[in-house]
Amino acid sequence: MNLRWITLLTCTLTAFQSHAEDARTPVPLPAAEHQLVLGEMRGFLETVEAITTALARNDFDSVAQHAKKAGMAEARKAMPRLRPYMPEGFRQLGHATHQAFDQLALDTELEDTRQSLQQLGEILSRCTACHQAYRFETQQKK
Ligand code: HEC
Repeated sequence: MNLRWITLLTCTLTAFQSHAEDARTPVPLPAAEHQLVLGEMRGFLETVEAITTALARNDFDSVAQHAKKAGMAEARKAMPRLRPYMPEGFRQLGHATHQAFDQLALDTELEDTRQSLQQLGEILSRCTACHQAYRFETQQKK
């Protein structure tokens, strides 16, 4: 290995190391609420899968049905347990995401695949924005 390669390798490793530091804001939760919110997240991903599959078939009834499952009505069920732990910015982003699913459900009336896809894209940008900003951690018992 010549010097150039060694320098390149060292630079790459240094870059990896700086990435290892987690800049996301921690959201501490009791263990049960931590599991609850992760379950909700997995539900979100299943919903996105179901909506994408249904859109490819232009099955707007199915799109609406799945989108509603991720809407405000469902979110309200878990909200009393989660709300005390959520920072304001997190809460707003979560709220906006559930509302956007409700809007997607409503707008399936237009039967416009392009429109629904655009709305789904906007929803996904909220998922990724929040994932870049926050992480959960289990609160230590005092
Ligand atoms: C308001 C913030 C927020 C929004 C919006 C959000 N997430 Fe998350 N999600 C998180 C956090 C925080 C984690 C945990 C990340 C960590 O601790 O490393 C997470 C974890 C996940 C996980 C992993 C679950 C597991 O069992 O580990 C999945 C899957 C996921 N999110 C999917 C989604 C999808 C799909 C969307 C959009 C429809 C979405 N999330 C929207 C905050 C959010």
